[in-house]
Amino acid sequence: MATTNIGGIDFGTSNSSVGCFEHGEAKLIRFGDDGVAVPSAIFYPTESTVTAFGKQAVSQYRSGEEGRLLRSLKSVLGSSLMSEKTTIRNKRVPFTDIIQDFFQYLQTTLVSSTENKVDSVVVGRPVHFVDDDDKKDRDAQEQLKTIATQAGFKFVEFQFEPIAAALSYESTLSNEELALVVDIGGGTADFTVIRLSQERRRQSVRTDDILSTVGIHIGGTDFDRLLSLRSVMPLLGMGSGVKDTERLLPGSLYFDLATWHRIPLLYNAATLLSIKQMKMDAKKPELVQRLHDIVEGQYGHELAGAVEQVKIQLSDAESALFELTAVSDGLQGDVSRGEFEASIEQAIDKLIDCVSTGLTGAGVSASAITSVFYTGGSSSVPLLQRQIANVFPDAKHVRGDTFGSVGLGLTIDAATKFA
Ligand SMILES: Nc1ncnc2c1ncn2[C@@H]1O[C@H](COP(=O)(O)OP(=O)(O)OP(=O)(O)O)[C@@H](O)[C@H]1O
Ligand SMILES: [Mg+2]
Repeated sequence: MATTNIGGIDFGTSNSSVGCFEHGEAKLIRFGDDGVAVPSAIFYPTESTVTAFGKQAVSQYRSGEEGRLLRSLKSVLGSSLMSEKTTIRNKRVPFTDIIQDFFQYLQTTLVSSTENKVDSVVVGRPVHFVDDDDKKDRDAQEQLKTIATQAGFKFVEFQFEPIAAALSYESTLSNEELALVVDIGGGTADFTVIRLSQERRRQSVRTDDILSTVGIHIGGTDFDRLLSLRSVMPLLGMGSGVKDTERLLPGSLYFDLATWHRIPLLYNAATLLSIKQMKMDAKKPELVQRLHDIVEGQYGHELAGAVEQVKIQLSDAESALFELTAVSDGLQGDVSRGEFEASIEQAIDKLIDCVSTGLTGAGVSASAITSVFYTGGSSSVPLLQRQIANVFPDAKHVRGDTFGSVGLGLTIDAATKFA
């Protein structure tokens, strides 16, 4: 089997990875100092035409360099933003062109790190780009296929991300398992019930082994938004009143500020004007001043990043400090794990419902599952782990390579798809 020109691409909401074959072995490629998982981030400096990617993009933005940072671009696929534009270097640019630039970076890294030109790739996709809308979901995959083709790949196939994760887990097994794969990333939660073994691995068609594949558009960026709306946006005036009335301040700007991929929509003169008006109307104008500081200084991603760090700390600690006083006076507060768990409780319930749907679709009971394999950054959330452990008390619970399982599995799958 020729594996020299094939590869795998995991274009993730938060992090991406790419893989190829070396001496017949699937391996992930390093993105310089970023390692094998590069943040899905892109920065367009105003004063230079050199676009930055990954950690470099985030660090240029954080250093205060003038320009535009974009993150969570995958969330745009299938959403209403797909046909919208944003301002980059004083030009209106479609969001799809920005995804194109990021994908081109992945392609260039993949091709330049291998001796043979990789032209055939398996690209990962969530089970649903969009929940409950097959047409939009198909459009999102088509859009991604066009982007991959324009980036220079001749042959592009897709694989569900949880199946890719299962394939990389399978390569480590010695006995047969009936596994539930749990892949919870930045944008989506995906599950597959699948029979895995070394023997089955050698089959080119695995349809009979995949008992069900389900997914829902809930991931770590939703946890960030829910935590932000509950614990941080109130520090900026959300939920506080309009003076001389019983009404509350309007919530839509807070919602955009708490949502990674909607942050760039706030950076315009009309929004600043609305915030000034809100401040004049507010019972607590000093809180709305913080909203003004964040939007005027374009610190939206800084804020979202600080919320995300609090969330990540709460996977290990009982409480964490949210602190952004350098950006706006008094903008800080303690957040407890209990508060975080209350903010995501309903989202976690939906994930557990999704697992039940997966079991029903597979026609197996929870007790039949011998192992639960976790991958994706958000699978570290303790509430989620507790809830899943409750459903599968007797299964073996295995943590995979959090950020690399999907990319490696897609590469392994490419050897089958392009055999
Ligand atoms: N220790 C942790 N506890 C909680 N969440 C975490 C932790 N580490 C990372 N995360 C979250 O995991 C998410 C990123 O995970 P990952 O890189 O697997 O996503 P992705 O593959 O880019 O997204 P998707 O597969 O949904 O497109 C982010 O939301 C990040 O905040
Ligand atoms: Mg992922």
